[in-house]
Amino acid sequence: TSSTSSTCSTTASNIKSMCVVGAGQMGIGIGLVAARVAKLNVQFIDSSPVQLEKGLAFLDKLLIKDVNKGRCTEDERAEAKSRISTVSSISEMASADFVIEAVSENPELKLKIFSELSEKLSGDTILATNTSSISITKIASAARRPENVIGMHFMNPVPVMKLVEVIPGLQTSRETLDITLELAKRMGKVTTMSQDVPGFIANRLLMPYINEAVIALQEGIATKEDIDTTMKLGTNNPMGPLTLADFIGLDTCLAIMKVLHSELGDSKYRPAVLLQKYVDAGWLGVKTGRGIYDYH
Ligand code: CAA
Repeated sequence: TSSTSSTCSTTASNIKSMCVVGAGQMGIGIGLVAARVAKLNVQFIDSSPVQLEKGLAFLDKLLIKDVNKGRCTEDERAEAKSRISTVSSISEMASADFVIEAVSENPELKLKIFSELSEKLSGDTILATNTSSISITKIASAARRPENVIGMHFMNPVPVMKLVEVIPGLQTSRETLDITLELAKRMGKVTTMSQDVPGFIANRLLMPYINEAVIALQEGIATKEDIDTTMKLGTNNPMGPLTLADFIGLDTCLAIMKVLHSELGDSKYRPAVLLQKYVDAGWLGVKTGRGIYDYH
């Protein structure tokens, strides 16, 4: 509807610039899609120069592959690339119409970032978080205008996965929600909407499934290969649950299970002992070369 107040005329179609806080796997994927598909100017912020460099190298690789696969022309690649810039802190950033925070799942860090963003930016900027399990309402409490804060949860790998879960917090305005849904569409994504509850929809269902697969392994019900093959070929999933857990990161899976367990208080969300053990050993999955499987 167009019954919004006359003081604010922002719509997703006049969003021209995006700032992505955090140049990790998720942040880079989001920025890439924003620059190439939605044709936005994208600014990455990361306090680690090493991470920025690594992230940009990954982004370049993905863009070159897009050309090789015919998803864009060489000119479009160069154009997308020219729309991308980096800075190392929020204080150095230029203004942006839309911000997506994609740093690690650390509540204190996210609250600090939202407070700093509020100080730096004009009132109209929408501040979205890519959190997978932290309360949007809580993150919004650190912002000057909680009505402009929203959850925008992308799936990994962002350029490939079609879905974005959109999560309004308790104070999110209808306008913020509408603009976010429309922007996700401009980025070529399909949206679903969830209440602001632990795990939203995707992780509320996915993580107990992965956790149960680790329990099945722990109990010796079957080998890891047979657990994965059963679910991959038996229920038509692109990956079995244990392979998927390694792909997501066992630390991330464990952290989300802990949030479900502590916030919902139900023993059915208790993390598998074996999952905790692997994380304690530093076996975090593909990213460390060893998880449930050995990638060396
Ligand atoms: N970044 C960008 N692109 C990637 C990628 C990455 N990290 N990993 C794979 N891809 C691309 C590949 O490059 C390939 O692209 P092309 O078509 O251009 O070649 C494409 O994905 C398909 O890859 P492959 O052909 O190598 O292999 P595949 O067909 O087995 O697909 C997969 C790989 C897309 C990852 C597929 O296995 C899959 O869909 N797995 C399930 C992923 C999933 O469930 N993700 C959600 C995780 S949960 C989450 O994200 C929420 C959370 O909060 C934890």
